[in-house]
Order: sequence, then C-alpha cells, then structure tokens
Amino acid sequence: MATIFRELSYRYQWLYDTIAKISALAVGGEAKFRRLAIQNLTISSDSKVLDLCCGSGQATSVLVEYSHHVTGLDASPLSLQRAQKNVPQAKYIQGFAEAIPLPDGEFDLVHTSAALHEMEPQQLQEILNEVYRILKPGGIFTLVDFHSPMSLWMKPGIAVFFWLFETHTAWQFLATDLSALLTQRGFEIRQKTLYAGGSLQVIQARKGEIIENR
Ligand SMILES: C[S@@+](CC[C@H](N)C(=O)[O-])C[C@H]1O[C@@H](n2cnc3c(N)ncnc32)[C@H](O)[C@@H]1O
Repeated sequence: MATIFRELSYRYQWLYDTIAKISALAVGGEAKFRRLAIQNLTISSDSKVLDLCCGSGQATSVLVEYSHHVTGLDASPLSLQRAQKNVPQAKYIQGFAEAIPLPDGEFDLVHTSAALHEMEPQQLQEILNEVYRILKPGGIFTLVDFHSPMSLWMKPGIAVFFWLFETHTAWQFLATDLSALLTQRGFEIRQKTLYAGGSLQVIQARKGEIIENR
C-alpha cells in the first residue's frame, strides 16, 4: 500500500525529481547517484546503450554524455513524452521490460535505475531473461535499486519512504537476492556495492561470452 504521494509523484515530474534529489543526498547528491552504476566502465560514443524503464529520462541524460546511441524504454507514454522533451539526444520505445520489443544481442550496455523494485517476482525473472537476451556476449547490465538496509538508522527511513511512495513489490524486492538471480540467469557479477547504510545496491553484471564447442 502506498499513499496518494505515489500517484502525485508520477503525475508531477517536479515532485518526482524533488524526491529523487532529496533521496540522493544519502549518496552525495543526484549527479553522483546517477553515475554510480557506470563508474569504471568504458562507454564509447559508439556503444549501444539501453536505459530500461527510463522514466522521464533522469538516467538517460547521463548516458547520452557518453554514447551517441542511447535508447530509452518505458511502459508509460507520459514518461516517454517527458523523456523525449528532457533528453532529445536519445531515441525512445514504448514497451514492457518483460517483453522488450528489440532484437537479440543488440546492446553493449543495459542500465536500469530505481525500477526493478516495482516488479512482481515473476516479472523480475522475465526482465532478467530479456536483458540477457538483448545484450551482446560480454555486454554489461548495470542497475541501481533498493537493498535491505544494514544500518539500524536507515531502517525507519526506508519504512517511511516505502509507506509514502511504494507498494508491496518494494518490500518483496528487499527480500530478494538479486545477485543470486543474476548469477542463476548466467550473468557474472563484476561488482556489487552498497551505499546509504546498505539501503541502495549498485550492481554491474556481465553476460558471459558464448564459447562454441567444436
Ligand atoms: C521509479 S521510475 C524510475 C525512472 C528512472 N529510471 C529513474 O531512475 O528515475 C520507474 C519507471 O519504470 C516504469 N515501469 C514500471 N513497470 C514497467 C514495465 N513493466 N516495463 C517498462 N517500464 C516499466 C514506470 O513507467 C516508471 O517510469
């Protein structure tokens, strides 16, 4: 159960962006937050990049600084309209992350931020399958999302935030071992880092190269 603030934050972009800015203070501000997942990665202007569940283009705006081939995908036409206006350098596709309307082996990098906690467990599994499918062999999946806090002082903060803005899926997500799911799907975890008292996880996972048996 969420409060009316969830709907309002999706309706009014300024409210969503203000909440994101305030939340990102826990990791040193939004500019830093938006770069956490891609630090240490080599992204060239030719890299093909997908911002999965791109919303209004909050992470897309950073990805286009690196690559000239960024695509944003989201299920919401309103978010995509806003993203197109906010970050016109990217191209956009409407679709579901669990049935991505794009070909196999297309992307060097798939990024998703603050979205996987909105998915039901079955959907999450399907999304990992889809990300694996559309990545090139050796391609990288980066993600930023909630994690069950390690510090006692973060637990009440997360509980209040979830009560205001999130639904049951966010609580289910806290109990999910995302690294294990990624590994089961065939990804190799390159890096997993926790921030903000453990309440935020940043993962870089790699799709293994396909080795042909001769
Ligand atoms: C909390 S917003 C995150 C937006 C942005 N990535 C960010 O970092 O601020 C979650 C986004 O996921 C999108 N979304 C939710 N379920 C989806 C699905 N099954 N397929 C594609 N997009 C989805 C929503 O429309 C929304 O724009």
